[in-house]
Amino acid sequence: MRNIRAKTFLMVGALGLLVLHLCKDFIDHKTIRLHVDVRENNNQIRKPTKNNSYVFFWPKCQQNISAANISGFSSLPIPIKDFLYYRHCRHFPMLLDLPDKCGGADKSADVFLLLVIKSSPGNYDRREVLRKTWAKERLHNGVWIRRIFVSGTSGSGFEKERLNKILELEQQEYHDILQWDFSDTFYNLTLKQILFLEWMERNCPNARFLLNGDDDVFANTDNMVVYLQSLKDNDGSKHLFTGHLIQNVGPIRSSGSKYYIPVQVQESNSYPSYCGGGGFLLSGYTALVIYNMSLSITILPIDDVYMGMCLAKAGLSPSSHMGVKTAGLYIPSSTLDGYDPCYYKDVLLVHRFLPHQMYLMWHRIHDPTLKCSPSTKRH
Ligand SMILES: *[C@@H]1O[C@H](CO)[C@@H](O)[C@H](O)[C@H]1NC(C)=O
Ligand SMILES: *[C@@H]1O[C@H](CO)[C@@H](O)[C@H](O)[C@H]1NC(C)=O
Ligand SMILES: *[C@@H]1O[C@H](CO)[C@@H](O)[C@H](O)[C@H]1NC(C)=O
Ligand SMILES: *[C@@H]1O[C@H](CO)[C@@H](O)[C@H](O)[C@H]1NC(C)=O
Ligand SMILES: *[C@@H]1O[C@H](CO)[C@@H](O)[C@H](O)[C@H]1NC(C)=O
Repeated sequence: MRNIRAKTFLMVGALGLLVLHLCKDFIDHKTIRLHVDVRENNNQIRKPTKNNSYVFFWPKCQQNISAANISGFSSLPIPIKDFLYYRHCRHFPMLLDLPDKCGGADKSADVFLLLVIKSSPGNYDRREVLRKTWAKERLHNGVWIRRIFVSGTSGSGFEKERLNKILELEQQEYHDILQWDFSDTFYNLTLKQILFLEWMERNCPNARFLLNGDDDVFANTDNMVVYLQSLKDNDGSKHLFTGHLIQNVGPIRSSGSKYYIPVQVQESNSYPSYCGGGGFLLSGYTALVIYNMSLSITILPIDDVYMGMCLAKAGLSPSSHMGVKTAGLYIPSSTLDGYDPCYYKDVLLVHRFLPHQMYLMWHRIHDPTLKCSPSTKRH
């Protein structure tokens, strides 16, 4: 009898331990899942899959109808109205991703210069020429240059499908496109910028430096690598944000301008200092700081000014680099050839170039027989 009692006692005890152990596992799992939920953000929808994992996706962002209540709304141009209706939307489904572009988050420190080029789906010819010229992925001066095009969608219906198909084909061949399902319009460029930074934090957080620019600039990426290597802090862990510095300007209030910003979008009459968006260089450190700041700053549709706002909030300043000419090059006389390669050999970046000009110039500045007199060298 005693024996049986003791046995039962032991068995119950063991069972209890087992249950406790199982519960612990269960609680642990719950906690892990909870962490995932919090990290992935509360608004995301989580769908279980058959293999016991989850897929996350963002619900379609709804138009903010109250935007129409802003005073003077009805007299605003349609793109501005559209912007105000969707200003709060920050997440869109990804159509093309490159999770391994930088060799994974840990290995991403091997990327010295990441070229982040904003490109609309229809700009196939520009992407093709950039891949063969300044945006070629390569080892230069002992360090890696990698390339990413960042895109939304254009058109609707069959046209949208066709354009998406082009990007899909390019992706199969080159593995260099990030695409989200939002309309790739001028006033959505800030959104494109933020989506890229969010992707970078996830997939390429240790890239040393970035060139952030448009697909119609001529960038002398060889010179950029040399310039970045010459910095005292050349591992990307310190603040750097440099380009064509623009200061003491404010929103353009005339509705005919491409850059029109009515008071309904921004009330303040001044912008912080910023670098022209055609192309600027920044460190990986600064890119992540900007992303962090962007989480709490309302979107302004002018992407380069928005970068300036994020820097200002972080207490950082953009700086000027004389080699970045986003407003074009100054050619001293109209009788001189504006495309003399000697003007371009020493610059970092010039806006704006057509694809055939890009192709020719990249080859001419690399011509070993090119001779430049000091008068054609520009700094
Ligand atoms: C589980 O299935 C989803 C698609 O349903 C797939 O994307 C994912 O890679 C799978 N995960 C594993 C671990 O097999
Ligand atoms: C817009 O304003 C009107 C009047 O102030 C109010 O009745 C209405 O609820 C508002 N609409 C939205 C969507 O906020
Ligand atoms: C919608 O727009 C109104 C008016 O500008 C604004 O007060 C409100 O915060 C917006 N809602 C969201 C979710 O952004
Ligand atoms: C930005 O993209 C979203 C999603 O496609 C779209 O609804 C919105 O109208 C776009 N905004 C502008 C200003 O083009
Ligand atoms: C992001 O910014 C917040 C303040 O807005 C700060 O507390 C936090 O440490 C920052 N995180 C990173 C990773 O920089």
